[in-house]
Amino acid sequence: LFSAVEMAPRDPILGLNEAFNADTRPNKVNLGVGVYYNEEGRIPLLRAVVEAEHARIAAHAPRGYLPIEGIAAYDAAVQKLLFGNDSPLIAEGRVVTTQALGGTGALKVGADFLKRLLPDAVVAISNPSWENHRALFESAGFPVQSYSYYDASNHGIDRAGLLQDLKNLPPRSIVVLHACCHNPTGVDLNLDDWKQILDVLRAQDHVPFIDIAYQGFGDSIEEDAAAVRLFAESGMTFFVSSSFSKSFSLYGERVGALSMVTQSREESARVLSQVKRVIRTNYSNPPTHGATIVSAVLNSPELRPMWEAELGEMRSRIRELRLSMVEQLAAKGAKTDFSFVAAQRGMFSYSGLTAEQVERLRVEFGVYAISTGRICAAALNRNNIGHVTDAIVQVL
Ligand code: LMR
Repeated sequence: LFSAVEMAPRDPILGLNEAFNADTRPNKVNLGVGVYYNEEGRIPLLRAVVEAEHARIAAHAPRGYLPIEGIAAYDAAVQKLLFGNDSPLIAEGRVVTTQALGGTGALKVGADFLKRLLPDAVVAISNPSWENHRALFESAGFPVQSYSYYDASNHGIDRAGLLQDLKNLPPRSIVVLHACCHNPTGVDLNLDDWKQILDVLRAQDHVPFIDIAYQGFGDSIEEDAAAVRLFAESGMTFFVSSSFSKSFSLYGERVGALSMVTQSREESARVLSQVKRVIRTNYSNPPTHGATIVSAVLNSPELRPMWEAELGEMRSRIRELRLSMVEQLAAKGAKTDFSFVAAQRGMFSYSGLTAEQVERLRVEFGVYAISTGRICAAALNRNNIGHVTDAIVQVL
């Protein structure tokens, strides 16, 4: 049975963790995977999460099956976070939300559902995009194309190319968009860009699929949801995948959600019934712990502000790390001007380093980054940033 099974390539992101873990050098640094590490180089357990976990453990809560769509209070809290507390869409019953296994799980459930609705559609992702977007939509059976996004010449957006490519897609294509903190570039669209994109998508009858995995890491929880809110006002039907892996530092708990905006409460009921079938035939129903904690925090008047403050601390610290990196690289005489890194948003920076330079960083210095040159600025700290900037200067 397995004799002809070929060796698959290592995952471009998670595969790097395996190599990193096997590396015995004491000064190794993992700038590969998108994970926030604190000043001690550890993944933090947020204070709000600890409090909610204490309460949950003390309650000796039974662990029965959840409803297929997850915890109702969690789904409702997700909707408010994405669409705003006073969203008319929520009031009108036009948002369907199901708990999902992280942002990736939300994308996959959405992709599987879309395959039933639009079996012949093309999926378009940004060039570049998160490594798993293409693989995930291809595994759901869609052909995947890229639309222009990043302009390496000025570390910005190729605006004309982006709009033209969206216009050139076959009508009723599925367009995957990063709401904020673009992965992998860290270069975001502004509100005017979003308005222009919205106009094209509407004119072409495309289906937007907004991926928001870093809400709160850009400017603020509210500002980072600006694209979702704009689409919500447009009257369009669209999908949103969201995640608390980063914003709650709950990576391994797989806490995410899939939300769909429909045209009516009655349509929502039909959509939910079908999405539940997709979930039931994949993993039956979601796990309890992570979503219980997130829901408890989001719905608690005491824990909610604590979490927002902690998220704000992570956001500010990443900004400081970006600035330090730019300063150190300049002070060490780097041949390239890295000031663009300070303007990027979220965890990632498209550093402009080539695959060969990234390889040298790993082999010679134990500094791990994605071969595309993506580095995770959220993994820097006062102890490792000197080694990292030394190494970058060396490989340039
Ligand atoms: C990343 O891009 O590094 C994260 O989203 C983690 C992942 O699942 O790839």
